[in-house]
Amino acid sequence: MELGTVISTMEGPSTTEFSFVVSNNKVRKGHYVQSETEEGLLIGFITDITRANRYFERAESVAEYERGGESLSKSFPTTDWEYIIANVRALGVYKDGILMRSTFPTAPGSKVSLADESLLNGILGFDDKGLKLGELEHHKLDVKVNLNRLLQKHFAILAMSGAGKSYLASIIIEELLERKPEQGRVAVIMLDVHGEYTGFKSSPEYGANTTIFEGRKIRIGLNKVSPQILGEFLPQLSSAQKRDIDNVLIGLRQEKKSKGELFDLEDLMERVEKSNMKENSKAPLLATLSSLRSMRIFSKNDNPSVYELAQPGRLSVIDLSNIDNLRKKQLIVAYFARKLFSARKKERIPPFILLIEESHNFAKEKASKQDMLSKSVVEKIAREGRKFGASIGLISQRPVQLSTTALAQANTHIIMRVTNPYDIKHIGEGCEALDENMLKSISTLRVGEALIVGEAVNFPIFVKIRKRKSKKSSKGEDIDTLAKKFEELSKKKKEDVEAFI
Ligand SMILES: Nc1ncnc2c1ncn2[C@@H]1O[C@H](COP(=O)(O)OP(=O)(O)O)[C@@H](O)[C@H]1O
Ligand SMILES: [Mg+2]
Repeated sequence: MELGTVISTMEGPSTTEFSFVVSNNKVRKGHYVQSETEEGLLIGFITDITRANRYFERAESVAEYERGGESLSKSFPTTDWEYIIANVRALGVYKDGILMRSTFPTAPGSKVSLADESLLNGILGFDDKGLKLGELEHHKLDVKVNLNRLLQKHFAILAMSGAGKSYLASIIIEELLERKPEQGRVAVIMLDVHGEYTGFKSSPEYGANTTIFEGRKIRIGLNKVSPQILGEFLPQLSSAQKRDIDNVLIGLRQEKKSKGELFDLEDLMERVEKSNMKENSKAPLLATLSSLRSMRIFSKNDNPSVYELAQPGRLSVIDLSNIDNLRKKQLIVAYFARKLFSARKKERIPPFILLIEESHNFAKEKASKQDMLSKSVVEKIAREGRKFGASIGLISQRPVQLSTTALAQANTHIIMRVTNPYDIKHIGEGCEALDENMLKSISTLRVGEALIVGEAVNFPIFVKIRKRKSKKSSKGEDIDTLAKKFEELSKKKKEDVEAFI
């Protein structure tokens, strides 16, 4: 499809940008275009479109005509003088199957046409066997990203709330679960803060490959907790207190091990009680341990085990929606993330992707001592996970609050609608590949539209996320649906009671 003709302007055509006068009104900002040059086929991306008309250039004459009750358009052939200019950023020159940097501009007068979709597939770095996230904006081309490129160096989904982050995360999960063993299947673990992913269990396609772990039933086996980790669980302890508790823990472990028994927090507290520790350090220590006990999280054994959590081609949803206490959630995230990573290093579990909803709560940039617990693990996997096939997907509506270390290690950013200027600025600073124009577009994205930048794609791309196949969990339903359900249920209850009477 021919779109127009390259023009000569003050700035171009140059090797990096050019403009063309539009002859086809189907042209849109965001279209990929091509134009023949001496070097080969120049591929570009329309960054903006402007319309101009000399008749309407001078405000005073327009105003005068309109005042006179006449319209300029009626008195003059104004439409004949309208022209449209599209500005294009050159991505490179396509020759012999590869895209090279453009080193010679296209000539004014050259024809510009819509880029060939079959070429775009390779130019943008899509993979026919990759994860199908949606369609390239303005083109009928599936966006299929390569699994390794997306996961190996981690990714982050950033957007304001309601933009479609969780929906997109569900699409990624669907694609991962649909992979065949011969394609390589990773384990998918979702830290589901709002209970939005439990719908996978009742979806016909994915139910058999999904396990939901209810937050209230999750337990950390104290038996397996090293003194160092216990120390991290109790950041409020002084170093003297930490030494005391270490000694008790080590003694308890040795004794129980020799008897072939397990122990939990009760046993540890009893041991502290009986120990010959000084009374003035014993009492505060017991108080701290008792606050830990009140979380009802420690037991003799881990529940679930990392082996249950991480299985190839399976989804584990850790449903934290029933836990109100943020500290308890952080404990769970910190403990299980750490366990998963160390099991993966020893190759006891398959490569995995750990998806973290509300990740700013678990890897806070301005972390207090207590927040450090989960933050340090998330950052560690972000830094070192690549070598071991341990991947992290950060999902957040507060990119400003998210650990810059973790975010910088996420080499692919999937950005959806954001309107807050601070957030946009922050996203721009964390992402060199984004130019001013793209940053501006972020606030105009609609729900379900995303900008993908970084490792997973050769150039930043705009994507319309595809429709999901999995069921939405009732927790993610819209208010009107929830309200209808509530009324229907109340009505039914009333009818049942009446029938009974
Ligand atoms: N790609 C999409 N296609 C259709 N509907 C979508 C899409 N993305 C999001 N939505 C809808 O928009 C709403 C908000 O999406 P959600 O993923 O919960 O946003 P977030 O997690 O960013 O707060 C939901 O009702 C969801 O169904
Ligand atoms: Mg969400």
